[in-house]
Amino acid sequence: MYVKILVTGGAGFIGSNFAHLVLAERPDAHITVVDKLTYAGNLASLEGLEATGRYSFVRGDITDAALMDSLVAESDAVVHFAAESHNDNSIADPAPFISTNLVGTFTLLEAVRRHGKRFHHISTDEVYGDLELDDPAKFTLNTPYNPSSPYSSSKAGSDHLVRAWVRTYGINATISNCSNNYGPRQHIEKFIPRQITNILDGRRPKLYGAGANVRDWIHVDDHNHAVLAILERGTAGRTYLIGADGELDNKHVVEAILVAMGQPADAYDHVNDRPGHDMRYAIDASLLRDELGWRPLYSDFAAGLEATIAWYRDNESWWRPLKEATEAKYAASGQ
Ligand code: NAD
Ligand code: DAU
Repeated sequence: MYVKILVTGGAGFIGSNFAHLVLAERPDAHITVVDKLTYAGNLASLEGLEATGRYSFVRGDITDAALMDSLVAESDAVVHFAAESHNDNSIADPAPFISTNLVGTFTLLEAVRRHGKRFHHISTDEVYGDLELDDPAKFTLNTPYNPSSPYSSSKAGSDHLVRAWVRTYGINATISNCSNNYGPRQHIEKFIPRQITNILDGRRPKLYGAGANVRDWIHVDDHNHAVLAILERGTAGRTYLIGADGELDNKHVVEAILVAMGQPADAYDHVNDRPGHDMRYAIDASLLRDELGWRPLYSDFAAGLEATIAWYRDNESWWRPLKEATEAKYAASGQ
């Protein structure tokens, strides 16, 4: 059990849900969120946490070595979510991905090394590249790294930095590589909330290419319960894959959203495909299940999707300020 937990990127989608979950489930925990508040950070996602008396927020950049040194020194453990996280943005402008995902992770690792603190690095299944649609295989810990995009290659590089700091300097770190998350507070540039808010806004959902690409969906709370289990009980130096056997193709997902929102299943548009678009992701999470006893609570995707749709319907003030600019960016690339 760690008491003082520094959460980087805690104003983003997964980090903010992690802060809510930990403060609700660990009565002794104190969370400090450090976040640059880029376009993806949203203080509204952290509303309600101040009332716990066990939460504080620092606006800052993880590439700021002096700030990271002092924040890490004051903490018992660091859970590192901060990243540039969107593939399409990385194709349009890779520079911030190199700075935040590589230099930022390096900066934190150096602070962790100096102060001897526990570090958990949040990463993605995209470091493994992709699988064929007709291949029964899933990503395992033995799958070679083969990232496709500027985003996934920067995350792959950050994983290698963590491993090198474990082996060379003996820092107490773990890594997790998770598949596609869905749930409340996800930026509306991402696939599922983009389509939900399109429908709420009277726009048609947008499917890249034919929509045959497969993603392995997991609810954000299932991801975060796995992260907490790894933080508290994981083996130092180890990597854990996180996934909930939720493989679905994009066409199926967009149709499920339309039907759940009372629209005809075919009321969507095909738009330009993503350059270098990964075909399929699938995770073998057996180490997490066998060693740490983790099990997903959201095994019914349709029910998780309904709850997510309800969240966006009930929280228009959270997403409305982002909608116009997000869609203008997509329109410029024919998406
Ligand atoms: P997000 O884009 O919603 O949030 C990222 C947060 O990091 C934002 O609050 C942003 O302001 C902050 N940030 C960006 N640059 C920063 C910097 N230089 N200094 C400090 N803060 C900075 O991302 P997310 O979807 O919540 O993803 C969180 C982590 O999980 C990322 O590391 C991502 O690679 C990983 N991941 C995401 C998914 C997914 O499906 N979303 C799946 C697997 C892994
Ligand atoms: O696999 C984990 C990764 O999942 C994380 O590392 C990333 O941070 C996260 O963004 C996500 O990456 P994807 O590129 O898979 O997610 P995205 O939501 O951008 O797209 C999901 C799929 O939907 C992908 O095949 C592209 C497609 N898509 C996306 C958008 C935004 C569409 O068909 N239409 C859209 O409008």
